[in-house]
Amino acid sequence: MWAANPRLGLLVSGARLAPPIVRVPRLGWVVRDPSLIRALLVDHRSTSLLGEGGVGHLWSQVLGDWVDELFDGRGHHSLRTRARDLFTDAAARELVGPAAQPVVAVLHSRLRAGQPVDVADLARVLVGRIVVAMLGLDPAALAPGTGTTAGGHPSADGWDVYRHVFGRGEELAALALGTQSDTTLSDSTVEQARSILLELTAGVPEAYRSSPESTLLGRCRTLGVTEQEATGLASLLLVAGTETAASAISRTAALLADTGQAARLSAASGPHRDALVEAAVREGLRVTTPAPVIGRHVTDDVRVGGRRLRAGDRVLALTYVANTAPGALDLDRPYLPENRHLWFGAGRHLCLGAPVAREELRRMVGALADAGPWTVVEREPARGVLIPTYRRLVVGPS
Ligand code: HEM
Repeated sequence: MWAANPRLGLLVSGARLAPPIVRVPRLGWVVRDPSLIRALLVDHRSTSLLGEGGVGHLWSQVLGDWVDELFDGRGHHSLRTRARDLFTDAAARELVGPAAQPVVAVLHSRLRAGQPVDVADLARVLVGRIVVAMLGLDPAALAPGTGTTAGGHPSADGWDVYRHVFGRGEELAALALGTQSDTTLSDSTVEQARSILLELTAGVPEAYRSSPESTLLGRCRTLGVTEQEATGLASLLLVAGTETAASAISRTAALLADTGQAARLSAASGPHRDALVEAAVREGLRVTTPAPVIGRHVTDDVRVGGRRLRAGDRVLALTYVANTAPGALDLDRPYLPENRHLWFGAGRHLCLGAPVAREELRRMVGALADAGPWTVVEREPARGVLIPTYRRLVVGPS
């Protein structure tokens, strides 16, 4: 957390000692209590992700005001409703299974062969592969020059195109560093964001025209979502669906090793192993909470936790602080109703990709569990990034 962004480290540490909801000069309302966070996120009459303080404000400056309707207006409800079947648990299994298989195989076979492997790197490749498959993009069109052949088959070492997609998404998200106190972007930041997005979404028109309905862009076409809207949605997914999931994977792996619970996973088998993997997925998501802060703009006066929030105020919901308060990663920890899914937000913006993210984590943790005892041999945090994560997390047999 500190390496990613020292200001975030400071905010998180300070908030642990602060009241459940407190007004902080320049930041606005800082909320760390899970029930209050949930109450605010589900209160769509009084809060919005559009307007100063919300992530929609960032997107509308980069893509244009038209995204407001798609990200929090009637278009949002309509699109979520009509694309629902693409984001079920079953659809996530179908999507993630084939896209993850070669990556999981590398993780498993290297560890089995007694060789070290960088889980952080494989996590970046995995999430890149999945978002590209989900959208129906042609990997060759995404990063010309990285040596990937049409069809997404690896060239040199394999998956540079996905590393490239991830890296550009990470660069884009990093442009939002420092927006905790003001979500208004400078002209040059908007320009940089636009040029990254132009590159990342270069293959969208073709995928929109020709991808099957089982892909998100193909579905957009048949639903009558315009090409411009589909490009906005693709932009959102290329960022929202990559860094968060990769962070959860590598940090969960590190936490399993650091708390001595990796060995327990490796020793388990059958239904007990499956139950432990599920617990590791849930606890990993809770303890890492890869989106540590959710911002909102107050649209109507509202009372929360005994405080009066006024229209025009901004809110920083510290989900990381709320979710980590119950304690460290523990495979025996019972279900925590107060924190339920709060790592995926709440209300109408509850993470659309939650089943995909859980399946990605399940596959990687499952592969680690099946590869025999392992330990972390080398690690390096990522610096200057929006979503805290590891740059390198090398694991090897123990
Ligand atoms: C561990 C991984 C992930 C975490 C922790 C996470 C977290 C979140 C959170 C907290 C939100 C709500 C933001 C808000 O209310 O302002 C959100 C929204 C969203 N997420 Fe995720 N996410 C993850 C993975 C993914 C994946 C894999 C995808 C897609 C493949 C995805 C797609 C989305 C989309 C489209 C939204 C916007 C939903 C809306 O506004 O209706 N996320 N995510």
